[in-house]
Amino acid sequence: MTLPRLRGAALATAALVAAGSLVAPNAASAAPGNPGAPRFSPGAPSIGDPYFPDQGNGGYDVQHYDLNFSYDPATRFMNATATITALATQDLDQFNLDFRGPEISSLTVNGKKTDFTRDGQELVVTPRPKPKTGQTFTVVVKYAGVPGPVTDPDGSIEGWIPTDDGAFVVGEPQGTPAWLPSNDTPTDKATFRFTAKVPEGLTAVGNGQLLSQQTKDGWTTFVWDNTEPMATYLATITIGKFQVTESVLPSGIPSYVAIDPRLVTGSANAVSQIPKMMEFFTEKFGPYPFASTGAIIDYAPQVGYALETQTKPIFSNTASVGTMAHEIAHQWYGNSVSPERWKDIWLNEGFATYGQWMYTEFNGGATVNATFNSSSNYGRAASSSFWQVLLADPGPMDMFSNIPYNRGAMTLHALRGKVGEDAFSRILRQWAAIHQYSHAATADFISLAERESGQDLTAFFDVWLFQKGKPTSW
Ligand code: ARG
Ligand code: ZN
Repeated sequence: MTLPRLRGAALATAALVAAGSLVAPNAASAAPGNPGAPRFSPGAPSIGDPYFPDQGNGGYDVQHYDLNFSYDPATRFMNATATITALATQDLDQFNLDFRGPEISSLTVNGKKTDFTRDGQELVVTPRPKPKTGQTFTVVVKYAGVPGPVTDPDGSIEGWIPTDDGAFVVGEPQGTPAWLPSNDTPTDKATFRFTAKVPEGLTAVGNGQLLSQQTKDGWTTFVWDNTEPMATYLATITIGKFQVTESVLPSGIPSYVAIDPRLVTGSANAVSQIPKMMEFFTEKFGPYPFASTGAIIDYAPQVGYALETQTKPIFSNTASVGTMAHEIAHQWYGNSVSPERWKDIWLNEGFATYGQWMYTEFNGGATVNATFNSSSNYGRAASSSFWQVLLADPGPMDMFSNIPYNRGAMTLHALRGKVGEDAFSRILRQWAAIHQYSHAATADFISLAERESGQDLTAFFDVWLFQKGKPTSW
């Protein structure tokens, strides 16, 4: 789904160029002197992110994912039909989806049975007739089997993670293709609908709003509708035994909180502060970008991290107040404004961590200034290995280390000191407003900060983002 600033058009051009270099010259189909004639070529098999070179694809722009499936935790068996609606951004004689899931029994494009091959996470589809630029096409993929986890460069797990009562489903940065054929890049957002059928007594919790819940013959079907554009890595449809609390915030935003009964007591404080966090961040960052809020607190201790799944952050164990604030802050920074490339991860983690620092101060805890200066942050010795990773390009091993989080948040605090309260507040709000439901890169942030402050910040960002070592003056 392409939103403001014609980013999609620029990307499509890039994809065409990339495809041109990868593919044998079937440009013979181009008709010189007949510019209106279709020029069919394969969509690029990658979006070109060096951290995850297989991720994403070119040649089309997904508008909507509809996944209808059943899952039985006893056998871990999934039976699924995914319907993907996409817009061709070039004349396509072939395109790829990212998919590591179970065996495919059938695939159609616009209702016609279609040939496909699989190679690693690449699902290569050859649609006939071929979609032309600007045409919408529908891909239906039927698959069944046992989906599983994906291991990341830093050794952490994501994807489809079976638990003792269901499945914990997370996808940052590359787990969603474990269970959904998709264009797995934050630069192609789409709306999502999940229809999940699970054994009676279990709850399937997805992004967005619950449209219906019906029990029949020992199975309950949940329909979840995520109505704003979402990056694939933020999708979840987590299954388990949950205590569910539905409410409406004073602002009118509905909230759906699902907690594993084992974690209710320990998470109560964090959950009770969601309304206050939403109000605080709305005041600081601008309007909340989504139609609903909530949380999923599940017991999956083998995961060991939380994730800002869109509208409902997910926790793999008891939720703390600090982590809840972090994940709620991500709804603006990370979810509505997503990173263009994974090297821009500080734009997610630095902002969410800074939001957490701000909420802590607001809530009567340490001031942001004290947190900046603490021994986990600026107080670290200059000799610490902490300072030896480049914030603007930390590498896939350090995407979720304390570099993007803590050095990222420190960068924002230093910027605040440099540009002053008013400009800083405008920068935060503008960042969320300009790139709402889209993606952006570090260079976009630098331009915005310079524009709003009226300062040349080259030396400032050089020290904080583009140089290793502990900044000493800026
Ligand atoms: N973005 C998440 C957070 O800060 C962390 C995700 C970690 N993912 C991973 N595969 N280790 O809340
Ligand atoms: Zn985070």
